[in-house]
Amino acid sequence: MEKKARGTFSGKLGYVLAVSGSAVGLGNIWRFPYLAAKYGGGIFLLVYILLAVTFGFTLILSETALGRMTGKSPIGAFKTFTKGKLVAGGWISAIIPMLIVPYYCVIGGWVIKYLVGFASGNVESMATDTFFSEFVAAPVEPVIWLMVFVLLTFMVVIFGVEKGVERISKILMPVLIVLAIIICIYSVTRPGALEGVKYYLIPDFSKFSVMTVVAAMGQMFYSLSIAMGILITYGSYMKKEVNMESSIKQVEVVDTLVAILAGLMIIPAVFAFSGGDQTTLNAGPSLMFITIPKVFESMGMGQAIGAVFFLLVLVAALTSSISLMETCVSSLQDQWGWSRKKSCLLMVGEMILLGIPCSLGFGVWDFIKPLGLSILDFFDFLTNSVMMPISAFLICLLVVKAIGLDRISQEVRLSSKFKREKAYRFMVRYLVPVGLLIILVSSVLNVFGIITI
Ligand code: TRP
Repeated sequence: MEKKARGTFSGKLGYVLAVSGSAVGLGNIWRFPYLAAKYGGGIFLLVYILLAVTFGFTLILSETALGRMTGKSPIGAFKTFTKGKLVAGGWISAIIPMLIVPYYCVIGGWVIKYLVGFASGNVESMATDTFFSEFVAAPVEPVIWLMVFVLLTFMVVIFGVEKGVERISKILMPVLIVLAIIICIYSVTRPGALEGVKYYLIPDFSKFSVMTVVAAMGQMFYSLSIAMGILITYGSYMKKEVNMESSIKQVEVVDTLVAILAGLMIIPAVFAFSGGDQTTLNAGPSLMFITIPKVFESMGMGQAIGAVFFLLVLVAALTSSISLMETCVSSLQDQWGWSRKKSCLLMVGEMILLGIPCSLGFGVWDFIKPLGLSILDFFDFLTNSVMMPISAFLICLLVVKAIGLDRISQEVRLSSKFKREKAYRFMVRYLVPVGLLIILVSSVLNVFGIITI
């Protein structure tokens, strides 16, 4: 069932702003820096950028063209071109956001906790080494913040005021970027931070491993919201006269710049405040929450700046979680014809039900270690390193086998020249599918301990 009238973005700027708003979120500010810190700094950054301009570009273009030519959301778009097994691609991409949004809300809850902490002047205690680990290990408090975040997301989606939030975020997003630049400058000029800048910006090829590629690829999917149907939906709202290739390029640039900036804010600070300690570099999901409070504590007006920073991060996180939940709700509505209210309530139940174990996995349930990972990391791995490569592979298959590359080119050319057409054709046929398979197989074998990469 399709929605009756499909709205469209006002033009190129409308499209770029809307897609960037959904792309820029915790993925850029929280996830990217901890992965870069863990997987070798500069080499991770280099691999990430190379993947974004090849795999990322190819997949975003394919999804957007698919959305614009069919005017449908993922499952409908797949069904337009195939009746066979490939429809599974539409299904997988619809399920992925349902598995991401619960743990996204857990991190969103942490952000609220830190916002409240700074606003109430707890700066010194938050900057201690043990504050974060004690907070996440508690059985009740993180769960409460999770629920607050879910509730905020739910209220926006149920009252249908996304447009209002979008408008606010268009103003606040640039403010976040400016604040991030100020924090970066402060961070990189601390004594000892230069080592961190080097670690982050100069690739050290001895730190390269297949895992660097696996992690960078998962991050790229996550950050650009690839392989989960959302870009198909956005493509369906894109007007025919909008220049597709250059809009995509702009979204990629904005998203990547924010991620790079976040890394520059956090990684040099690890060196300045923890002496480049390996355990801090490997801190994983907790890195931002351990390092950033130390930066603010050492700053004049750190309390106020900290509160503003976490408020802005919260807005960026909310725009993404709203868009994640909205995607899930519209899949449920389209697929089963459920009412909006019923779909929203079901999603809230699911977000809380799956979110709670993710949260408790850092404390009372830390003995539950699926595949040796914490529960949150497990969902993260399952979606980013397993389901997204499969989904992206199926998109390539759909494009090459069922739709045909000529139709994609025709769609792109409706509004402009297709400058990178040759490269696109090569990538979508060979490089991307083969690369995805290699990555998928190696990451799965790696977690099962069959190979070490
Ligand atoms: N890209 C978002 C971020 O960087 C997270 C995200 C993943 C997302 N999938 C999405 C956001 C789907 C909106 C819709 O934080």
